[in-house]
Amino acid sequence: MTGEITLSVIKADIGGLVGHSQIHPALLEKARDVLTAARDEGLLIDFHVTAVGDDLQLIMTHTQGEDNADIHGLAWRTFEAATQVAQELKLYGAGQDLLSDAFSGNVKGMGPGVAEMAFVERASEPVIIFMADKTSAGAWNLPLYRMFADPFNTAGLVISPKLHQGFRFEVHDVIEHKRIYFDAPEEIYDLLMFIGAPERFAVKRVFSRTTGEIAAVSSTEKLSLIAGHYVGKDDPVLIVRAQSQFPAVGEALEPFAFPHIVEGWMRGSHFGPLMPVSVADARPTRFDGPPRVVALGFQLAGGKLIGPADLFADPAFDEARRQANIVADYLRRHGPFEPHRLPLEEMEYTTMPDVMKRVQDRWEPLEE
Ligand code: 13P
Ligand code: 13P
Ligand code: MG
Ligand code: MG
Repeated sequence: MTGEITLSVIKADIGGLVGHSQIHPALLEKARDVLTAARDEGLLIDFHVTAVGDDLQLIMTHTQGEDNADIHGLAWRTFEAATQVAQELKLYGAGQDLLSDAFSGNVKGMGPGVAEMAFVERASEPVIIFMADKTSAGAWNLPLYRMFADPFNTAGLVISPKLHQGFRFEVHDVIEHKRIYFDAPEEIYDLLMFIGAPERFAVKRVFSRTTGEIAAVSSTEKLSLIAGHYVGKDDPVLIVRAQSQFPAVGEALEPFAFPHIVEGWMRGSHFGPLMPVSVADARPTRFDGPPRVVALGFQLAGGKLIGPADLFADPAFDEARRQANIVADYLRRHGPFEPHRLPLEEMEYTTMPDVMKRVQDRWEPLEE
């Protein structure tokens, strides 16, 4: 639509240094080269390339709309080019998230995670890009509820006339591929019934009920569901617009002062606390974690990305980080026991089927 700019965040894990802990600078450099050429050709207005853990993050602005074949093709080519570098360096899991060699117009369903929104840029347009590693789609459910539906988090829901009507939540059933909308505050109990089960239900979008505008969009790709087996995790991203008719920047960050427990730690098979960190600290090493989240803030100016501001690089989040470490210690002491380890049906990367097969003849019926 005319006058709209599109903000696309497309990410993929295309190889880790070392193991799954972080990214090699050569991959960032390669991605910047490819996107610079696309900007020079006029396809992109602007871009920012970064990494969170072992995930390469492409933050792009343009006027092509969502699900655009040229933009998705550009992201795919960027990941392929960086994968080549990863292969030369023999980085771990090179090309991990590229599940197919045949790009067909959209990266959805092919491995990368995608969050995109198109909107008319406001007089001042603060946006926050949240990016997490060692977790999966659904990790944003709790923070999104807090941001857009909880007056104990977001003061504006009570005291700003622009937020007072509340927000509409678009919830996806990632197993059965269905969606449903709930209006907050009237329907929060129904909403919570579903999004309290984040392994199946994920908040995809949030809309202002005052203006109808899009407020937030998340990536909801589930790699194991796409590939039919474990192939790495769906380390997710989230875009949130802030201020005025949306939560203030500080209200959008506030949920992360509580390091809530998410799935996706070690081998995609453990629960752990989500630790808010700066980009520099987004290098999960302890037991390949604990899970991390980064928040980069930008002001848009005619689609140009002014920033980033590294929003969790604030000592005010030290306590959340400390709590996350305490929770991590506590959970780790469970070793291979649930609820540190995911329940069996949730194990993405498990030898359970093999073990089952190996001992299947040794099971005896109980005589009772
Ligand atoms: P490998 O079995 O390839 O060592 O991978 C384990 C792992 O890191 C999965 O998260
Ligand atoms: P990534 O999904 O970030 O590659 O992590 C794999 C893993 O499970 C590490 O233990
Ligand atoms: Mg990896
Ligand atoms: Mg990752």
